[in-house]
Amino acid sequence: MVFYFSGTGNSKFVAERIAKAIGQEATDVAPYIRSYLGDKEEHVFDKDEVYVFVCPSYMSAPARTMTFFIESSTFPAKIKSYFVITCASSSGISTRVDRELADKKGMDYMGTAQVVMPQNYIALFTTKDKEDNQKIIDAAIPEIDQITDKIKNLAKLEERKLYFLEYPTTVGVRDMYYKHFMKTKKFAVTDACVGCGKCVKVCPFNNIVLADNKPSWGGNCTHCMACINQCPKNAIEYGKGSAGKPRYRGPEG
Ligand SMILES: Cc1cc2nc3c(=O)[nH]c(=O)nc-3n(C[C@H](O)[C@H](O)[C@H](O)COP(=O)(O)O)c2cc1C
Ligand code: SF4
Ligand code: SF4
Repeated sequence: MVFYFSGTGNSKFVAERIAKAIGQEATDVAPYIRSYLGDKEEHVFDKDEVYVFVCPSYMSAPARTMTFFIESSTFPAKIKSYFVITCASSSGISTRVDRELADKKGMDYMGTAQVVMPQNYIALFTTKDKEDNQKIIDAAIPEIDQITDKIKNLAKLEERKLYFLEYPTTVGVRDMYYKHFMKTKKFAVTDACVGCGKCVKVCPFNNIVLADNKPSWGGNCTHCMACINQCPKNAIEYGKGSAGKPRYRGPEG
């Protein structure tokens, strides 16, 4: 099975390309997360086959959306597990985080590959224009295909090596960032909002509700940037950080 989490389409694009090449369909983990948050019922996957998990890098590690999905699901013992991390520049310590998670779940860890894709973190960085993003996507395609070949051949993935002390330093920064900076109080909606509810639907954590046809944000956010980038009216801002910046809607957006 090929699972993906994708705030803005990059990881979906990578997962779908891998899945198509191995004769499968890619599966979005967001509905599983939303349902788990509702009834706390673990999802059980019992097919004894290869599992591929594709998600973005957040703070130099796999997005917690994906690690939460894996931790709160049951998989058959000893399944071969591949991890593919999309990132704007580096997957950081994902190799070690994924290996530890796979070990904890009793999986046969086959490696973590990184694929550089366009930046989507509009709250902090400026997204590039369409032409520059397309060049990044074009450069990623041969890499995705090489990763797919390894998966097809059940070979281990080539991994990024970690620098001395990179792991403990990054874990410290990542945990602090999740705790203190991944907040929603800076999200605001403008008069351009038409109350369509798309932001509610795309949030993987059921974190947005519409009140008087306008979104309001709860506290369970991983800054995936789905709501702000996917609003069809560009009606969401993040403090002053996002004003005037082009929204990023993924390779097919
Ligand atoms: C909260 C957040 C943190 C990010 N941290 C990193 C990072 O540490 N390193 C990096 O190279 N890219 C980082 N990015 C960029 C994304 O990993 C990259 O754009 C990814 O391909 C987005 O995937 P998606 O479209 O599937 O959501 C971050 C993006 C977000 C939203
Ligand atoms: S997606 Fe945009 S237009 Fe639609 S309800 Fe949310 S903020 Fe309003
Ligand atoms: S509130 Fe927006 S940024 Fe936060 S998790 Fe939901 S969709 Fe992602």
